[in-house]
Amino acid sequence: MKGLALVVGAGGIGTQLAKDLNESEKDLDVVLCGRKSEFNSFWELDIEDSQSLLQLKNKISNHPSKLRLVVNATGRLHSDSLQPEKRLQHLDKKNMMESFSINAFSPILLAKAIEEFIPKDFDFNFASISARVGSIGDNQTGGWYSYRAAKSAQNQFFKSLSIEWARRFPKAAITLLHPGTVDTDLSRPFHKFVPEHKLFAWDNSEIPW
Ligand SMILES: NC(=O)c1ccc[n+]([C@@H]2O[C@H](COP(=O)([O-])OP(=O)(O)OC[C@H]3O[C@@H](n4cnc5c(N)ncnc54)[C@H](OP(=O)(O)O)[C@@H]3O)[C@@H](O)[C@H]2O)c1
Repeated sequence: MKGLALVVGAGGIGTQLAKDLNESEKDLDVVLCGRKSEFNSFWELDIEDSQSLLQLKNKISNHPSKLRLVVNATGRLHSDSLQPEKRLQHLDKKNMMESFSINAFSPILLAKAIEEFIPKDFDFNFASISARVGSIGDNQTGGWYSYRAAKSAQNQFFKSLSIEWARRFPKAAITLLHPGTVDTDLSRPFHKFVPEHKLFAWDNSEIPW
């Protein structure tokens, strides 16, 4: 594949993906987009900020290569103010909004921002990293209300988008991925609850919606 590839989200998974793509796909111009990174080709982007998304559009339109691949690897499970809820009484509207902002709204607004650059005559791929806990059918343990629900919402947004893009961009593909439990800043505070053999990357199994 030849052209521009954007990996959005300069965290553990996004940075590794950008490095791997850079190594394996010599014809792709791989740009990592996020808040900060040491990666050699980096565009600053706050995916929750509409002005920042506008600036991203300018950068894409000024780039000489056609856009061929976008991977969203942003997400948030916890922050200084945000902790995944263990029970109903932990729900807080501000925290629920924060989780939905990054885990549900931003990925689909990223798709909206890049849509005008989808080439009609070439294959184009958009992938977003969701989470297994966003599966309603697979929810056995409850808890993590906001993160789970925001990832379920992300899945639903992209299901609808896949129907629209199938009509408008027949050469475009949309993929939602759950990465398994990966050792990054996002999951580290919760590792003690994960048996050692379960700290693994995606094993190809399909999870119900
Ligand atoms: N690690 C796992 O076990 C696991 C499991 C299931 C799903 N996932 C999903 O995998 C994806 C990648 O997670 P990760 O493990 O790589 O976590 P991570 O290391 O925490 O990376 C998440 C990245 O998202 C970025 N981000 C958050 N808000 C942003 C914003 N407004 N604008 C730009 N970037 C923003 C963060 O940047 P800042 O540091 O600047 O906030 C961080 O670099 C997420 O969608 C996550 O939900 C991970």
